[in-house]
Amino acid sequence: MPFHSNFRFRFRFRCSRPLFLILYFLPFVLSLLQLRLTPASAIQFPCKPPQNSYPFCNSSLPISFRARSLISLLTLPEKIQFLCNNFTGIPRLGIPPYQWWSESLHGIATNGPGISFNGTIKSATMFPQVLNTAASFNRSLWFRIASAVAVEARAMYNSGQAGLTFWAPNINIFRDPRWGRGQETPGEDPLLASAYAVEYVKGFQGQDESDSVVIGYADRDRRVLEEDGGTRLMLSACCKHFTAYDLEKWGNYSRYSFNAVVTEQDMADTYQPPFKSCIQHGKASCLMCSYNSINGIPACSRADFLQQARKDWGFSGYITSDCDAVATIYEYQFYAKTAYDAVADALKAGVDINCGTYMLYNTAFAIEKGRLQEEDVDRALQNLVTVLFRLGFFDGDPLKGNFGRLGSQDVCTKEHQGLALEAARQGIVLLKNDKKFLPLNKNDVSSLAIIGPGASTSSQLLGGYSGIPCRAKNYVEGLQKYIKKTSCVHGCLDVACESNSTFDEALLVAEASDYVILVVGLDLTQETEDRDRVTLLLPGKQMELVSMVAAVSKRPLIVVLTGGGPVDVSFAKGDPRIASILWVGYPGEAGGEALAQVVFGDYNPGGRLPMTWYPESFTKIPMNDMNMRANPSRRYPGRTYRFYTEEPVYHFGHGLSYTDYTYKLLSVPNQLSLLRFMKSGAGKRELYQTEAGVEYIATDELLSCEMLSFSVQISVMNMGHMDGSHVVMVYSKASRAVDGAPEKQLVGFSRVHIRAFGATEMSIEVDPCEHLSFANEHGQRILTLGEHILVVGDLEHSLLIAT
Ligand SMILES: *[C@@H]1O[C@H](CO)[C@@H](O)[C@H](O)[C@H]1NC(C)=O
Ligand SMILES: *[C@@H]1O[C@H](CO)[C@@H](O)[C@H](O)[C@H]1NC(C)=O
Ligand SMILES: *[C@@H]1O[C@H](CO)[C@@H](O)[C@H](O)[C@H]1NC(C)=O
Ligand SMILES: *[C@@H]1O[C@H](CO)[C@@H](O)[C@H](O)[C@H]1NC(C)=O
Ligand SMILES: *[C@@H]1O[C@H](CO)[C@@H](O)[C@H](O)[C@H]1NC(C)=O
Ligand SMILES: *[C@@H]1O[C@H](CO)[C@@H](O)[C@H](O)[C@H]1NC(C)=O
Repeated sequence: MPFHSNFRFRFRFRCSRPLFLILYFLPFVLSLLQLRLTPASAIQFPCKPPQNSYPFCNSSLPISFRARSLISLLTLPEKIQFLCNNFTGIPRLGIPPYQWWSESLHGIATNGPGISFNGTIKSATMFPQVLNTAASFNRSLWFRIASAVAVEARAMYNSGQAGLTFWAPNINIFRDPRWGRGQETPGEDPLLASAYAVEYVKGFQGQDESDSVVIGYADRDRRVLEEDGGTRLMLSACCKHFTAYDLEKWGNYSRYSFNAVVTEQDMADTYQPPFKSCIQHGKASCLMCSYNSINGIPACSRADFLQQARKDWGFSGYITSDCDAVATIYEYQFYAKTAYDAVADALKAGVDINCGTYMLYNTAFAIEKGRLQEEDVDRALQNLVTVLFRLGFFDGDPLKGNFGRLGSQDVCTKEHQGLALEAARQGIVLLKNDKKFLPLNKNDVSSLAIIGPGASTSSQLLGGYSGIPCRAKNYVEGLQKYIKKTSCVHGCLDVACESNSTFDEALLVAEASDYVILVVGLDLTQETEDRDRVTLLLPGKQMELVSMVAAVSKRPLIVVLTGGGPVDVSFAKGDPRIASILWVGYPGEAGGEALAQVVFGDYNPGGRLPMTWYPESFTKIPMNDMNMRANPSRRYPGRTYRFYTEEPVYHFGHGLSYTDYTYKLLSVPNQLSLLRFMKSGAGKRELYQTEAGVEYIATDELLSCEMLSFSVQISVMNMGHMDGSHVVMVYSKASRAVDGAPEKQLVGFSRVHIRAFGATEMSIEVDPCEHLSFANEHGQRILTLGEHILVVGDLEHSLLIAT
């Protein structure tokens, strides 16, 4: 979204502790005072007495009826007002303005005009950026974060500082390492991104039946959510950006005019699965179409995709355009001939609301010109207001309704801040650790130097789509808790590091210190919305800084990498003077503390990379090439661990621990027989052959996949003397090369906690139709017959699929 808040959060590392303590308690004291001072009537809401006698205000009536009733009271110009994110209200019906655009990617974010931090609530918990949270591979953590954010969001709504409709999660596949918004996503793998989407949406919308340990709301609220056939929502989450969106600005390409040329095959098994899961299993109540075109048609005009979401995936909710993505249909994509054609295209395709004003100003004209009917607008309204009804927006005073007791006391709570720390710890990835250099014993460290442009700026902890943190602790503050004698110098003037003018100072500090930690990498000046990178190397002279410090320091270095996008750190990987490398990404407000706990062994790292770290040579591939699959004839190496044919710097799923783990396969089937599940019984009709003679079946020609599902039972042993959390990943690969098949693919994962020298048993469910298949050139998922290999760590198990 091109909206930019002019708010800049930045404060520097402070050396004086008392000041820090005062500042720490200040917001707390202020919020207590203000809670008493703020009148409850500050919130505007519909169905306020005496304007509560309309049938749409009667909460005993079914939502569908109330929605139709409301629409029937509106004139056409009033209806059109609803088609804009900044809805100005219908005073004669007592309906106040409503801002549809609020953001909550990893905490309440200032990016949407629906959010304000200048009311009773001055800050909110900033969890790690999504890519880091994904690195934990921990589903219950994702769920808990989303429900904590939801509690804070509802509290902010109650104090008039947020809306009820939020535009997260961002679940586009992190296809290219240069992408400026890859940090916002759960990574490059469709199964991982799908799992994340489901947990986020369930946690955020407050709709999960199985997990009753949601922080912050009680059984009473849960019962309310079950009314109206379980359609009630605590908040609305939005699966974005639909679809094949993952380029900001690169070379001559801009997201506003980009035409993503995508094969049906890649669409089916890479780009669409996270959206399908987000809707089918997460039951998201919003879908956002993106700026780009897909094969020549702008995403917000793609009736086929938008209708597929409703008809095939069971989507019930509203579809919004990305901000100004209706305008781009005409102005940047040149797909529509006029502005009103763009509006007609979008509404006819199934878009219900425009972030921006294009529908507001052009819909009446489109109807006049016969390009649209009033019924098209009514359909959009029905989808829009139904979501507001599901949210309780028309149920009167929000403070008296469900979730009405949530307020400033529920924001930045100890629990939420503790969860932010827990999430940061779980997401840290140990990439290299020569001779078990880490963890350090704090008693052996007489002095510590922390060097680098990212060492002490708290703003760098948060990443894109952030708000004001409860309290952000930078790396120096975190490490100082362990070692009194620390020195901090930046080495570079900023992350871009264009000058070496302050290197000398850094070298002096490094020479004089017992241990040295370098904090280098990326920040939002290098990668962000509207900005892709052009190189995968460390920015500017950062690499020189690392090498020069390595040359003078007493001991091997610890390198801490910040930022979301992968960095080609081959030089450090191979340098014996660099003992350890940690990726902290954008670890959120508790990042400093989390890093210190990992460095000094109070937490045993278990995070794993949610994406491939490519070498710099990857930048020879044009970023606009959407193909996932390698193509040797044009020296195209493929993308992501599923298809990349060259050697990465660090592979997807890489991540070390302070202990070692081993596996034993306890039970896995050796053979699966499809015969009983084929639609025409014993008929061989559904069997096909690839050109190379490999037999396969289309998975939609099987009667049931559930009954073919099986579990892989695994015993995991912790072979070391530290407790730890370990991510078990099960992959599958075909035993013979089949055209278009991935090199391997993730079929399941689970994070388990294992005591030192202990063992635990776990199982991972495998649905062959979903997990052992891939898409053919027509976008149809196929399951090959013959041998499949299941891979768990070093173990390989052969599974024969026969008829
Ligand atoms: C609300 O609707 C119910 C069910 O139709 C009806 O019994 C009740 O009288 C209505 N309440 C008001 C205030 O109109
Ligand atoms: C929303 O609309 C109102 C009334 O037209 C206007 O005053 C306000 O500036 C708009 N807000 C945004 C964020 O566009
Ligand atoms: C808070 O910020 C919003 C938007 O920037 C503004 O409209 C409003 O007047 C501010 N409120 C206070 C109390 O400053
Ligand atoms: C950008 O456009 C210019 C002029 O048309 C062309 O020379 C150049 O090769 C293009 N660059 C890329 C990366 O496509
Ligand atoms: C900084 O760079 C200049 C030019 O490359 C070089 O001459 C100088 O030695 C460098 N200084 C340090 C401290 O690395
Ligand atoms: C997963 O996250 C939850 C929630 O923070 C935590 O309680 C649990 O210990 C984590 N699991 C593992 C194995 O780390």
